[in-house]
Amino acid sequence: MKRIVILISGRGSNMQAILDAGLPVEIAAVISNKPEAGGLDIAARHGIPTEVVYHKKYTDRDDFDTALATKIDEYAPDLVVLAGFMRILTAGFVNRYMGKLINIHPALLPAFPGLDTHQKALLGGVRIHGCTVHFVTPQVDHGPIIAQAAVPVFSDDTDETLAARVLQQEHLLYPQAIRWLAEGKLRLEDNKVVSTIHQASSSELKSPW
Ligand code: GRF
Repeated sequence: MKRIVILISGRGSNMQAILDAGLPVEIAAVISNKPEAGGLDIAARHGIPTEVVYHKKYTDRDDFDTALATKIDEYAPDLVVLAGFMRILTAGFVNRYMGKLINIHPALLPAFPGLDTHQKALLGGVRIHGCTVHFVTPQVDHGPIIAQAAVPVFSDDTDETLAARVLQQEHLLYPQAIRWLAEGKLRLEDNKVVSTIHQASSSELKSPW
């Protein structure tokens, strides 16, 4: 069974969705860069080992990333899952885990990389928004796309209502993507996703739209 380490920084609702999905994986540990991350309590309640590598204790990004990698490697994971992990990672770190490091981004990449994606979507006037699971590469939010789920944007949406609609899809999409990876249906090769899944990912998700 594939071993997974999940990295978080905050409330951990995506992490919880992964834990609750009954995936054919072993969740080896949850690691946060912030001691106060709410997700740590959720993981502990699930009986999963938790660790904190507090970024403020390190003088620069390289030091932090080295400490983080050392901690991750203690658990010898097959897959490292960023679930609301809010630190930019150095190229050295990303390259060390190339093909084993994935992220969920709350927008339909390549639209709206970076922060404040729901606000950007509303300002941009798009009618469709969503979320993306992708392999992590050194350029932030630009890695090869594994799966996406779309939601409509309504004229009376606020950042909050849109974020909630997207988050509902994140909680379906991320476990599904991890399941495909765990089952060996997807891999990264020459910076491209090689997959035996033949059609758009979101059709397998339960969507109210
Ligand atoms: C999610 O919207 C995720 O896409 C983004 O950060 C948020 C984390 O939320 N990267 P949570 O901690 O999983 O609840």
